[in-house]
Amino acid sequence: MADAAPYEIPTSVLETLAPSARRLVLNRRGSTVWDVETRHGRFAAKLGYPIKATSEWEGQEWTALAPGREGAILQHLNRKHVSYGDWEHGTWNVQPWHRGNSLYDLWQPHRAEGASPEPDLGEALSCAEAVAALHATGWAHGDIQPAHLIISHGGTALIDLALAQGGAIPAAYDFSYRGCLVHYESPEISRSVLETGTATPTLAADVYALGASLFISATGLRHVAYPDDAGRKDQRQAIVDGPHQPVNVHGVLGKLIEAMLSPDPADRPTSAEVCKELSSGR
Ligand SMILES: Nc1ncnc2c1ncn2[C@@H]1O[C@H](COP(=O)(O)OP(=O)(O)OP(=O)(O)O)[C@@H](O)[C@H]1O
Ligand SMILES: [Mg+2]
Repeated sequence: MADAAPYEIPTSVLETLAPSARRLVLNRRGSTVWDVETRHGRFAAKLGYPIKATSEWEGQEWTALAPGREGAILQHLNRKHVSYGDWEHGTWNVQPWHRGNSLYDLWQPHRAEGASPEPDLGEALSCAEAVAALHATGWAHGDIQPAHLIISHGGTALIDLALAQGGAIPAAYDFSYRGCLVHYESPEISRSVLETGTATPTLAADVYALGASLFISATGLRHVAYPDDAGRKDQRQAIVDGPHQPVNVHGVLGKLIEAMLSPDPADRPTSAEVCKELSSGR
C-alpha cells in the first residue's frame, strides 16, 4: 500500500468522476496515482506537483506538468475517456484503468530459484505489439519499463505516455526530456543526457528499453552492471562505456534481446521486426 497522499484528488475532478471507491496506488515524489471505481467504469487518476528541493535532491518542476502532458498526448492519439487539466499545484489526468499484471510481476516465476528460464514468447510478443502499435503512429514512448507494460488476456497496454514524443504538445504542458529510468536507458540517450542534460526519445531507444525490460523481467539482471548505490551520473557512464551484460536467455528471445541491446541504434531491429521474429519463433 502506498503512503498517504500529500494531496487529495481535486474537488472538481472528484465531482465529475463521482467515485464509488478509490485506492491509492502510488505516491512518489511529484506524482500520486489512484485506482478509481465509478459507475462509468474503472479509471486511473494521476496528480502531478513540483518536487521541492531538499538537502538530498534538487527541486523539479516538470513533475507538475507530466499528467497534463500525458493527457494531451492520449487525446492526440484518440484514446477514449481521457480528461486532463490544471489544479492548484500542477496538472492532473484521468484515463481508463488497464487490468492485468506488469511484465515484471508476470515473469516473477522465471526469476525464482530453480525456475524455468524460458518465458512465454506470446507474452513477450504482446509487449512488443503494444510498442509497435505506438510506433506505427509515429510516436516514441521514451519511458518503456516493465511496470509500464500491463499484460492481460486481451493484449498488453503500454501506459505512462508522459514523456512520449512524436507530435505537437500544448506549450503550457511541455518540458524537455531528461532521460528515463537508467535501468532501461540506451547508451545514446545516456550519453546525450551526460553531455547536454537532455536527449530526444527515439523508436530505436524504445526498442533498447523493451530489450532491457524483457531481460530484467526474465533474469532479474540489469542491462549493464553497476553498483546499487552508484550515483545517476556513474550509472549513465557505465551504460555509455558498456558492454551490456551477457544475455543468458536461451532461444529466440535471447537472440532478440541481444540484438535489441545493440549499442549502435542502427543495428537494432525495429519494433515491427521484433514482433515478426517473436511470432515466427512461437
Ligand atoms: N491506466 C492505468 N491502468 C492501470 N494501472 C495504471 C494506469 N496508470 C497507472 N497505473 C499504475 O500506477 C503506476 C504508476 O503510474 P505511472 O507510471 O503512470 O505514474 P508515474 O507518476 O509516471 O510513476 P513512475 O515514476 O513510476 O513512472 C503504474 O506503474 C501502474 O501500476
Ligand atoms: Mg510511470
